[in-house]
Amino acid sequence: MDIFERIKKDHDDARALMKELKDTTARAEKTRRKLFDDFKLDMWAHHKVEEAVFYSYLRDDTKMSIDSYEALNEHHVGNGLLEELDTFPVASEEWGVKFGALSELIEHHMDEEEDEFFPKARKLLSKDQAALMGERFDARKKVVLAALKPLKESEIEAAA
Ligand SMILES: [Fe+2]
Ligand SMILES: [Fe+2]
Repeated sequence: MDIFERIKKDHDDARALMKELKDTTARAEKTRRKLFDDFKLDMWAHHKVEEAVFYSYLRDDTKMSIDSYEALNEHHVGNGLLEELDTFPVASEEWGVKFGALSELIEHHMDEEEDEFFPKARKLLSKDQAALMGERFDARKKVVLAALKPLKESEIEAAA
């Protein structure tokens, strides 16, 4: 998978998860919490790895720099809203409303990346560069995602 396919895969997974989350009600507290925890960690990892692998290379190009900084700013706003929702009671109607706003922002950002940013980036990256970036993205995403997972109580207890 080249970088464009690899990022698109994450986006499609996120879209599916957001759809599932939107279908939950305030009464489905456990399901909502579990789905949101997965979604939050995946988005944080996606944003950070995308910045380190994809945007860090492209933002040096004058044709891409403004778009890159706009994208990084959207990551920042999205990450903050994820943080806010993380501490907000999931079993409330407000949570659903806030999640709706967050998912709209993320959806819009991903669409823009795919429809506007990707075509420009394709002109700057060779096939081999895009393939290598895709590999790096995949490898780093695995590491970051694993690093962000909360330590399980059982892991600590095992060392007692
Ligand atoms: Fe992004
Ligand atoms: Fe993305």
